Amino acid sequence: MDPSELQEMFDKVELDIEDRNTETSGNKWSPSSWRSKKVTQDVIYDDKEELDKVLAKLRHLPPMTSPREIKNLREQLADVALGKSFLLQGGDCAELFDYCSKVPIENKIKIILQMSLILTWGARIPVVRIARMAGQYAKPRSKPTEIIDGKEVLSFRGDNVNGFDPSERKPDPQRLLGAYFHSAASMNYVRTILHSDFAVLHDPTAWDLQHFRNSHTREEYQSIANRLSDALNYMKVVGADASQISNIDFFTSHEGLILPYEEALTRELPDPDTQELKWYNTSTHFIWIGDRTRQIDGAHVEYFSGIENPIGIKCGPSMEPEELGRLLDIVNPNKEIGKVTLITRYGCNLVDKYLPGHIKAVKESGHVVVWACDPMHGNTEQSSSGVKTRNFRSIVEEISRSFRIHQEYGRTLNGVHLEMTGDSVTECVGGFMELEHHHLPQNYQTSCDPRLNYEQSLDVALLIAKYHERKRRGSIGLM
Ligand code: PEP
Ligand code: CO
Repeated sequence: MDPSELQEMFDKVELDIEDRNTETSGNKWSPSSWRSKKVTQDVIYDDKEELDKVLAKLRHLPPMTSPREIKNLREQLADVALGKSFLLQGGDCAELFDYCSKVPIENKIKIILQMSLILTWGARIPVVRIARMAGQYAKPRSKPTEIIDGKEVLSFRGDNVNGFDPSERKPDPQRLLGAYFHSAASMNYVRTILHSDFAVLHDPTAWDLQHFRNSHTREEYQSIANRLSDALNYMKVVGADASQISNIDFFTSHEGLILPYEEALTRELPDPDTQELKWYNTSTHFIWIGDRTRQIDGAHVEYFSGIENPIGIKCGPSMEPEELGRLLDIVNPNKEIGKVTLITRYGCNLVDKYLPGHIKAVKESGHVVVWACDPMHGNTEQSSSGVKTRNFRSIVEEISRSFRIHQEYGRTLNGVHLEMTGDSVTECVGGFMELEHHHLPQNYQTSCDPRLNYEQSLDVALLIAKYHERKRRGSIGLM
């Protein structure tokens, strides 16, 4: 070979290596490229060596979700964005490791399945269910510290960072491993019960209605259950395919806040259809960016821009419409339908002011998103007893106004995002059971935000179902 040819070849190889180096040194996305950006709500660990050991172990552990499941959810959310299905996302504000137990998991699955049954009946379209569970362990906080019994302590940041007990507030890396194992155990039990008789929807009348203290709700639910049961029996008799109804897809989600954890569980795996290698967050199916961490040039947005999972973005009053369009371009450059769920959370008094501008901005951007209403986070108030609560009326009003505004602007509200539990807690006031402020101490359990209890959650589903029924008859409004 001629020496000049050899030199040319050598230079080319050098150039290739340089290109690859610049790609890894900051320009190209990788599961760790967020590390060069500003991390909002960062957690500071004293023992970095221990943190590294924990992260190495997490990188070694197997995925908890698969590309097939994640793709399946993406396809279902594309249908939601096009108005062909409705999204129900719900669960605890802060899931505790302690909730990883038979009864709390069963109660949560049960309430979500019952609500989805009611919503399917009301909207006459399938319901996609995503639980805020099996990983919803991290919390952003407005203040890094709080005063307890006159003493300043670090705020509780969720079970995967520190403990709720004031003596356990120091961030502990071992809790990240705790998060993995509690997620895995919760997911395992969810999959187990969904593959057993627990989830049989063929006979809605078999659902246990004992919990309904309120006779109005009980009769409404009973009547829906009877009608559904009749319809399903009819389908069976005429030989129609009821597999759509009996087939239970159930997905998990959490806020993607603690990026070292998310990074360690992000794996390069083949797309189940094309075999092309892609990056999947295998700790869950769906993750969202919180309202406090969605800065365009921040670490969270960088991380979220490279993963295949469907993602959510919380969208509150401080989101500028122009910023929203740019954000969507960054996290979804190919404008894939339903890849992004915008979870709006303004409060019932501010939704009229901010939602229209956000709808217009998204329309102009050319993105087709899932619009979900989170009627919880803009409606938190202080009860006279000092605890945080939410009024059922404000929650329902924000959903109702969101339905109306979307319709006025030529869009559809595609879903709801709720903080709720299948247990009979007393954290939010109102609902058909008329829970009052003085009832709150009876069973106030939450370690973060107040959740709708079992009955209040069913009430919300019934009101939305009835809204759809009335809309079919030509009138609108939730109440
Ligand atoms: C949450 O969903 O619990 C939460 C903290 O919400 P946001 O980011 O909308 O405040
Ligand atoms: Co919350």
